[in-house]
Amino acid sequence: MISDQWLKSACYIDGRWIGADDGQTIPVTNPATGETLGSVPRCGRAETSRAIAAASRAFVSWRGFLAKERAELMFALADALLKEKAALGELLTREQGKSRAEAEGEIAGGAAFFRWFGEEAKRVYGDTIPSPWPGKRIIVTKEPVGVVGAITPWNFPHSMIARKLAAALGAGCTMVIKPASQTPLSALAVAALCEKVGIPAGVVNVVTGSAAPIAAEMCENPAVRKITFTGSTEVGKDLGARALAHMKRVSMELGGNAPFIVFDDADLDAAVKGAMLSKFRNSGQTCVCANRILVQAGVYDAFAAKFAEAVRALKIGDGLAPGVEQGPLIDMHAIEKVEEHISDAKANGARVVAGGVRHPLGGTFFEPTVLTGVTDAMKIAKEETFGPVAPLFRFETEAEAIAMANATEYGLACYFYTNDLGRAWRMMEALDYGMIGVNEGLASTEVAPFGGVKDSGMGREGSKYGLEDYLNIKYALFGGLGV
Ligand code: SIN
Repeated sequence: MISDQWLKSACYIDGRWIGADDGQTIPVTNPATGETLGSVPRCGRAETSRAIAAASRAFVSWRGFLAKERAELMFALADALLKEKAALGELLTREQGKSRAEAEGEIAGGAAFFRWFGEEAKRVYGDTIPSPWPGKRIIVTKEPVGVVGAITPWNFPHSMIARKLAAALGAGCTMVIKPASQTPLSALAVAALCEKVGIPAGVVNVVTGSAAPIAAEMCENPAVRKITFTGSTEVGKDLGARALAHMKRVSMELGGNAPFIVFDDADLDAAVKGAMLSKFRNSGQTCVCANRILVQAGVYDAFAAKFAEAVRALKIGDGLAPGVEQGPLIDMHAIEKVEEHISDAKANGARVVAGGVRHPLGGTFFEPTVLTGVTDAMKIAKEETFGPVAPLFRFETEAEAIAMANATEYGLACYFYTNDLGRAWRMMEALDYGMIGVNEGLASTEVAPFGGVKDSGMGREGSKYGLEDYLNIKYALFGGLGV
């Protein structure tokens, strides 16, 4: 049973644990059991404004820390996360539903972000630029953007915070985090560990509550200099427009419609393994998960048979139970979307070869599903399902695969399997995506740039590019040097 120390019922603002001004709360429930885990404050603009003021005050000293001092605190945070991996993994599974193995992996991944950006903090280099004038010198320095407002989703309650916060802390920024209302406990656990390892008050603040007033305060408060958001394209566009109205920097990690392409020359077993990972990680609730599986005609039936067999073998249940690979979906809206996509596909001629219905466990459990005979005319071709449904499309030629893959307004992740080196190179260049897995079904890591093009957003998280998103460039021209 999870220890009470992780079941926080207060927000973390300016180094203090506080409730909402009006005492209102939001319940947090376990999607696997329906059990209420606890409740968190339903804060609004006033509490957010105080958190921003605290982050502004803290920014003055935090930016002045030596990079190696910030790094030491971040390493301590990474160590603390790893030490508490089992407890935090359990907490994450209880509030979000994913399997315990995935949840613990997510905590370890978060720790890796703090370690990586702690190291990168020491490498915020500038430039000297050859002067076009005598007696003058040009230098470029990088400075933290300032207070950052972060709005994070429920599908990765820990790592979506870690990869934003780690970059911000490394750059010397302070942050106000608004976690998803379904999964605030993992965010509050990070705040508790920040407090424990001695990150100064006000540097990290977590405000739970309703998205609309908190986001409005973040977008309109002049002290916030950057908004970072992970979530739907619809919300991202709205937030981005509001942030830009106040000339704030934005990073947007938005929706995807990832193609997963299997060519005739692919290693089919590897492709099935990659598709399982890509499609069914977190029960299909990731923005990088395969949304359209495009299979070349010569291997379509063989791939479909092997893949459906692997899908039928997935173990479904409460994420805390040993061996479970697929937990429940987050809520009934998720189930309804999955059902809508399946029934639309069936009505238009697709065939269900695995799953297709709610799981006998009830609640928000759903059978992992494989559909064959799927075409571009179906909803599932255009919309992100965000659930455990794998639609198999058929194609004949490489050119057709490229055209199908790029026929979407999204451009986050895509994957393809081939053993032809020339084809691999051509595909890599032709696909309009921010991230490409070549014979790989999962590409996320703290050392590489995560992010998309087109309606999938802007900015990058992780890697040296992720740090740049939290830095402003300053150019200084030194004149009168007499040399
Ligand atoms: C997501 O943003 O949904 C996926 C995150 C990841 O793969 O790290």
